[in-house]
Amino acid sequence: MFRRNAFGRFLVDDYLTEAGTPSRRRFLQGLAASGLLLTGGAVLDQRVWANPVFAAYPFGLGIASGDPSADGFVIWTKLAPLPLARNGGMAMKAVEVTYEIGAEANMRQIVQRGSALARPELGHAVHVEVSGLEPNRDYFYRFTCGGERTITGRARTFPVANAPIERAHFGVLGCQRYEDGYFTAFRHVADEHFDFIYHYGDYIYEYRMVRPNERPLPVARVMPGDPDEIYSLGDYRQRYAIYKSDPDLQLAHASAPWLVSFDDHEVDNNFAGLVSEQNVPPEIFALRRAAGFQAWYEHMPLRRASIPNGPSIHAYRRFLYGDLAQIDVLDTRQFRSDQPCGDGAHAACADALKPENTMLGEKQEAWLADGLRRSSARWNVLAQQVMVMRHDRDPDPKKTSYSMDKWDGAVAARQRLFDTLESARTANAVVLTGDIHQNWAGELKANFDDPKSRTLGVEFVATSITSGGDGADVTKAGQVVLQKNPHIGFFNNQRGYMRHTLSQGGWQADYRVLDRVTTAGAAVSTRASFVVEAGKPGMSPK
Ligand SMILES: [Fe+2]
Repeated sequence: MFRRNAFGRFLVDDYLTEAGTPSRRRFLQGLAASGLLLTGGAVLDQRVWANPVFAAYPFGLGIASGDPSADGFVIWTKLAPLPLARNGGMAMKAVEVTYEIGAEANMRQIVQRGSALARPELGHAVHVEVSGLEPNRDYFYRFTCGGERTITGRARTFPVANAPIERAHFGVLGCQRYEDGYFTAFRHVADEHFDFIYHYGDYIYEYRMVRPNERPLPVARVMPGDPDEIYSLGDYRQRYAIYKSDPDLQLAHASAPWLVSFDDHEVDNNFAGLVSEQNVPPEIFALRRAAGFQAWYEHMPLRRASIPNGPSIHAYRRFLYGDLAQIDVLDTRQFRSDQPCGDGAHAACADALKPENTMLGEKQEAWLADGLRRSSARWNVLAQQVMVMRHDRDPDPKKTSYSMDKWDGAVAARQRLFDTLESARTANAVVLTGDIHQNWAGELKANFDDPKSRTLGVEFVATSITSGGDGADVTKAGQVVLQKNPHIGFFNNQRGYMRHTLSQGGWQADYRVLDRVTTAGAAVSTRASFVVEAGKPGMSPK
């Protein structure tokens, strides 16, 4: 009944009927009779391409792991032998992909193996939710298909919730516009051997390709294939294929599990709920949002709970890292109100003060407040996208300017968040932010007009991987902005990522910057470090 191929795998085409229609019942009966059941949720209810032969190496988009729990994580890959070709060069059939979980990097001791179907409905992506592993330790994984095998990636389980844990070490990064530079930062990220990595969004940019001399900023790399702005699922898939073909990005994915979130450019610049940048009718924008979310899901190591439902996706979620940290990954795009005063930056926008303005939406806001009230973690981390603290960004000392896309455009929502931090007596709140392609560090003040008011937490804003080009250290404008915002203690305009090390006693935040991104091979250095003492609100330079 079962045949084995050269790799000892079962050939499921034996269970296709003569007409090519799968006999699912018969197949499952066969599996049950033999005591073998495929793991990874693979239910063979569609035509399967057994013994696939690929035109080229099928794992050109790499591998990834993510969303760790105390007993597992997601492992991910996507079959694309010709990444930029239609459908990634794949036939429109489901393909069985096998995976192995190893206790050591040499993969001599395999602790789990199984298989999953790469389905055409999901662009031949594979998401396996691995469980039954030990907490707080490294594991290794790889995939095989059609006689081809991936590199071995490193994943890591989280500690058991509330178990005593002394230390964590993780990275924060995002904003990786292809044309703006090389992904050298990711190579350095891989060398850090982080416990996990938080990606705050802008994994891709949806814009039309830019050629050299089409803008003042240098174009370091031109996107292949002459792509226009992206709208359809096929367009979004192709954009991910361009980005994910990058070997440095693939290394960073293979180095540690990621907690991913999206910001605006996974769909459309500065979208807010169903309001698009160009204000197309919401029911039409919903179609584009659905395409963007599906492509994001397909390319990220996410759990089944994040499979999109039309234009909706569940992306906010909570992680407990022992008793050391509660990490709330937030979604500040899908449920937010429209940017007031027509978006942009304004000195005074009365609509920014409207009580109904929201960044999280009612449901997520209540979920966050409930989680903070229940938390017994030493550190309470809000992993999100846009700057929470007040930020007068006008370099003219006589003027003020607040960005309506940030929490400055939803002042009442920020006040509700701060009220929650106070009423929940949230211990050691740390906000992790991205979005603006610059490094910033500051304190969340009960009253931003009074530097002596209570400090409710700190905010570390991580710069971009590439977006904005080479950049520079402290600019003159940046110095003025620092003086105008006494709660902000650091500004830098280079590219890179953040490295955070936390223990029961303290938190250290390192701003890792690259000397350039418009050419490859840049060196990395620590531009500044800040420490937060547990139980003592506020930060100080190290
Ligand atoms: Fe960005």
